[in-house]
Amino acid sequence: MKPELGVCYYPEHWPEAMCAEDAARMVDTGILWVRIGEFAWNRLEPHPGTLQFEWLDRAVETLGAAGLKVVLGTPTATPPRWMLDKHPDMLAVDANGNTRKFGSRRHYCFSHQGYVDECVRIARVLGERYGHNPYVAAWQIDNEYGCHDTTVSYSTPALNAFRRWLAVQYSSIELLNKAWGNVFWSMEYRNFDEIDLPNQTVTEPNPAHVLAFRRFSSDQVVAFNKAQVDVLRTLTDAPLLHNYMGRILDFDHFEVGADLDIATWDSYPIGFLSDRLEDDEAHKTAFLQQGDPDMQAFHHDLYRAVGRGRWWVMEQQPGPVNWAPYNPAPLPGMVRLWSLEAVAHGAEVVSYFRWRQAPFAQEQMHAGLLTPDNRPAPALHEARQTAGELSTLGEVYQVQSKVAILFDYPSDWAWTSLPQGAGFDYFRLVFSAYRALRRAGLSIDFVSSDDLSAHYALILAPGLATIGPDLERRLTDNSDLAILGPRSGAITRDFQIPVVGRPGLNGLDCNVDLVETLPPANNRPVRGGGAAQHWIDRLSGSAEEILSFDDGAPALMAEDGLWYLAGFPNEILWDRVIGLAAGKTGLSPKPMPPGLRLRETADHVFLINYNAEPVVWNGSTIGGCDVKILKRNLPGQI
Ligand code: GAL
Repeated sequence: MKPELGVCYYPEHWPEAMCAEDAARMVDTGILWVRIGEFAWNRLEPHPGTLQFEWLDRAVETLGAAGLKVVLGTPTATPPRWMLDKHPDMLAVDANGNTRKFGSRRHYCFSHQGYVDECVRIARVLGERYGHNPYVAAWQIDNEYGCHDTTVSYSTPALNAFRRWLAVQYSSIELLNKAWGNVFWSMEYRNFDEIDLPNQTVTEPNPAHVLAFRRFSSDQVVAFNKAQVDVLRTLTDAPLLHNYMGRILDFDHFEVGADLDIATWDSYPIGFLSDRLEDDEAHKTAFLQQGDPDMQAFHHDLYRAVGRGRWWVMEQQPGPVNWAPYNPAPLPGMVRLWSLEAVAHGAEVVSYFRWRQAPFAQEQMHAGLLTPDNRPAPALHEARQTAGELSTLGEVYQVQSKVAILFDYPSDWAWTSLPQGAGFDYFRLVFSAYRALRRAGLSIDFVSSDDLSAHYALILAPGLATIGPDLERRLTDNSDLAILGPRSGAITRDFQIPVVGRPGLNGLDCNVDLVETLPPANNRPVRGGGAAQHWIDRLSGSAEEILSFDDGAPALMAEDGLWYLAGFPNEILWDRVIGLAAGKTGLSPKPMPPGLRLRETADHVFLINYNAEPVVWNGSTIGGCDVKILKRNLPGQI
């Protein structure tokens, strides 16, 4: 696949006369894709049933005739104001019972069937009009499911749909009561219509109730997306996609992705560093204008799995954003670095958000490739440079990595339903594992618990909430070594502690006798170096003890190809565990200096330097904020 560049464009924001010049400038910059339309519902249908598509016809024609491939968005993330008159109860309701209002975007509840029908209707109209338009080469459905905390809604339509969903899941109220342990605190129900949504309870609701509601909420997103997929499939052969986000785990992306052709995501490295990561101030200062060196790659690799190999960056940060608490500018070179890094991880397209900065409304402080008065912003030059380099680079082929991480969205829902320790967070745990593998210079794949077919030397499955015998078998069959823990196999699907065999494993004689959680300033040292933090499983059993805590308790236990890690490792402990695992499986770690990362493709090694300063590694000097692309298997190369 030869990687290409794209850009997000809003023809409805500008005088129509600008479109042709914009298109020519995009092409001149080396951009080949343009995404349009995803927020334009009111301009397409200003009154219910009054369709005005001529402006969009002309935009598609102008952009396409200039040589651009169009990604057309369905505008369902922004229902017009009149939609509320038709469907007054379509708004989502937050956990405090407050109805969310009109005046920004994503003001809908996934469970409102009337709104779903409206979405299918507008998708059909669009599909009928543009499904075979030669310039429309892909379709984006909606925009960023889950953004602004919109997956979970406590509305009346959600309540009714939840009761129906429960009746299908449990078939009888007795089975539900038993599965949830409702004998506790006299929470038993007599029929499904007595069950409420798990908000506004006096103290915490039953975690089984919360987890069921989170599963339901995810299923509603899947169904919402599928309703539009089903209608568009009949009207176009172009690929269908959605743009996911960074560190949003509220719905199962693998399940949404199963109905789509390509996974895309929106990468805002500097916004994420200040807004979505828990790192210390020194780390945040070192990478203030570059972003975290692992955050983007983590999502590239995750969404490559969600897209079954096919993925894009749909929105790439081009300059300061408007939405983080602080919004510094990228250092020179970073927009190019982020773009090439995405390519190294297999992106088919990297598309910048947005073409020209808007002079109005909420995002007027968000940079684009052009300033509001149409002058080049710094990123335009870097986009042009990247386009040139991509055409020289040519095809980039991915190869299967030797290491995989099993990523499981329901585990996050489980652990947020019953955290037990404030520092324990599923993403944080998995991300710490990912970072450790990257510090060791390893390229990584993600797998889901439903898709464990390829063989890996090493699979990490930290924090995997529920492990049945089948999943355990597939984990061990498909790896030389699988590492579980902490908090793995700790609950059943209905959120009960498995009382037969803990942590629910057949191949590893190791019990969890006690669980401790620690405040952030505390940890439990491990003999020989490193420590566990946040979460400790106190283990016993006949499995071999490979590492021990200072107090003598097992820190890592092993039996054949299965290891169990007893705590949430700090960096030193992770590095030791990865070193031990590499020794057992024949992996060759290549320790990386801080901020320098490595990604192997079939023919190249990409060395990506997130540091502001140059780094020397293995005989190569990589400039600050620079990427060095080496041909593989040439003399003197790694
Ligand atoms: C994304 C969104 C875009 C825009 C952008 C700003 O979350 O999809 O529409 O809001 O962020 O960074």
